[in-house]
Amino acid sequence: MTIEKNIKLLHFVDTFGFSEFEQKLISAAESATYNAYAPYSNFYVGAALLLDNGEIITGSNQENAAFPSGLCAERVALNTFGNMNISNKIIALAITARSEKYKIPKLLSPCGGCLQVMSEYVKRQNQSFKIFCITKDYGIYLAEGVESFLPFGFILD
Ligand code: THU
Repeated sequence: MTIEKNIKLLHFVDTFGFSEFEQKLISAAESATYNAYAPYSNFYVGAALLLDNGEIITGSNQENAAFPSGLCAERVALNTFGNMNISNKIIALAITARSEKYKIPKLLSPCGGCLQVMSEYVKRQNQSFKIFCITKDYGIYLAEGVESFLPFGFILD
């Protein structure tokens, strides 16, 4: 049996059409890049989650001299949310990055590991959330859900 999935990412050059909450979410992700600890990569990532009560939770990448012990911005934000043990749902996630060393990709996709973790949170709350990928010079790519980046995540039911 063939399985086919349709992937769509919307592109925006600015944030004018977004809701006030979404604009705040994007600013929060940008501010979070300044909390990053990235002396090894010099790639400063900020992530922010918007909850259904309007609350915003942020994360930034936290590196370690033993490289695999570091953690991405998205997972810092998501696991911070998980640890709060609240019943609110995540309705959107935003990521952005800045670096003097590397060019920021036009489409700043979350890494595979973070996408897998997002899939688990989607499953836990039984509701998808939007993903905003922001690159200052190229605008914003918006996905309706994690499946746009990871169509076949590993899920145990
Ligand atoms: N990084 C993130 O924080 N999120 C991603 O989705 C990809 C990469 C971090 C990990 C590392 O600290 C730095 O960016 C360079 O890979």
